[in-house]
Amino acid sequence: MRADLFAPETTPALGDDYMARTGRVLGRLALGALGVTLILPELALAQADATPTYSKDVAPIFREKCEACHRPGYIAPMSLQNYAESRPWARSIKNRVETRQMPPWHIDAAVGIQDFQNDRSLSQVEIDTIVRWADGGAPQGNPGDLPPAAVFADDDVWNYADRFGGPPDLIVTSTPHTMPALSQDHWWKPLVPTGLTEDRWVRGIEMRPSTTEGRKITHHALARLQQEEDDVDKESLVAAGGAGLLMEWAVGKEGEIMRENSGKLIKAGSEILWDIHYSSAGEEVTDSVELGLYFYPKDAPPKHRQVLNIWMGIEGGPNNLLLPPNTVTTTSQHHVMRENGRIENFQPHQHLRGKGMQMTAITPDGRSRVLSRVSDFNFNWHNNYVYADNAAPLLPKGTVVEITSWWDNTSANRANPDPNQWVGWGDRTVDEMAHAWVNVTYLDDEDFEAAKAEREATLAETTDGGEQ
Ligand code: HEC
Repeated sequence: MRADLFAPETTPALGDDYMARTGRVLGRLALGALGVTLILPELALAQADATPTYSKDVAPIFREKCEACHRPGYIAPMSLQNYAESRPWARSIKNRVETRQMPPWHIDAAVGIQDFQNDRSLSQVEIDTIVRWADGGAPQGNPGDLPPAAVFADDDVWNYADRFGGPPDLIVTSTPHTMPALSQDHWWKPLVPTGLTEDRWVRGIEMRPSTTEGRKITHHALARLQQEEDDVDKESLVAAGGAGLLMEWAVGKEGEIMRENSGKLIKAGSEILWDIHYSSAGEEVTDSVELGLYFYPKDAPPKHRQVLNIWMGIEGGPNNLLLPPNTVTTTSQHHVMRENGRIENFQPHQHLRGKGMQMTAITPDGRSRVLSRVSDFNFNWHNNYVYADNAAPLLPKGTVVEITSWWDNTSANRANPDPNQWVGWGDRTVDEMAHAWVNVTYLDDEDFEAAKAEREATLAETTDGGEQ
């Protein structure tokens, strides 16, 4: 059904600079696939009698891709740090891994850009290993084969401290909130001044619950930047609705680093409007969320301003969203880019009836290309898909960005609390929303051309050697 809905859009396009990238990646994939085909007979022979074991084959994958969340005291419901803990979950693990629900990374692998900065998905080989392990009775194997234990940084360490040579330059802390042991979800929205007395440019952002206890209740947190824009030099800033969101943090997210020579501008006298979604954890927990900001040196500000757009997916605005009972629907909305821009990421947002979202670019020459699609949206996870440096699309001004959402308000949608209700826009999880959070770095014509040329040069280099 999905494929039918979007078939016309998926036609590979179309020889433009950034579009050529896809061709190259596809080319490489094809080569990769060929390589796999060539060595397959050998592998198949080796594997025919060898069921993967936990100790040798599976544990290394869990160490790298699961344990960050699946360990005692962290957000996942169970630990997967040793065989005894993992074995009872083998069937469930197979299921979640095969359907690409775990690790939480739900971008469609078959369409759109596939190069990401923060990809935590499993490779097909890793998935196959886990599936064959589960199907083969989930054997332990020889404990002597186990990889060394994973080492995790202490909770009170800032992830980017090494990179930027010290802790954040500024930490803004939300007003503490107490979550009862048993309760419906809370949305906590305190307003906290940044305390800045001069404008500063941000090059890195981290957010984290203040304590390990806090990690159990903090589902996600938004930090909205509130500030006066005295000199709005970019129309696009107006289009984006102001300075916008500084950052959204959700379980499993590390932080955000600005691309070279670009940053977010935080002004003197600004404030952070928090929007924190807490869930109860069976025990009373009081916590706050910390926003850590790393600044560019005062004498070396970046040239380009990055703005977080909220691109809606409902023509005519939120009030036009009305999902009939027992019905599958799509909605969409178009946004014109008034400046050239580099699209940095895709972060779809819907609730329980939301099944998927797609971001498509229609360039002024009339060509269209799907940039990203999530067709198995899961409200538990607000993943942010950050494009790799050489994959972030460079779009000329006049590009129309189309955000399409689709909805399943039937009983086939297992997340649906009641398929017999009409559903409209709203904050509650049982209401709906449809927007993509998209960071855009706006570039004037000269810089845009330079960025395109640089992209071409890098790609030429990385694809050197007749790979094409
Ligand atoms: C970013 C954190 C994170 C990572 C990484 C992660 N998980 Fe999870 N996992 C969770 C959370 C939270 C849940 C419970 C919510 C949900 O089901 O989405 C969960 C649920 C599960 C479940 C379902 C448990 C049940 O109650 O049935 C399985 C199975 C699972 N994860 C396996 C894995 C495996 C295997 C990996 C690595 C290949 C992995 N997860 C990586 C956080 C994570």
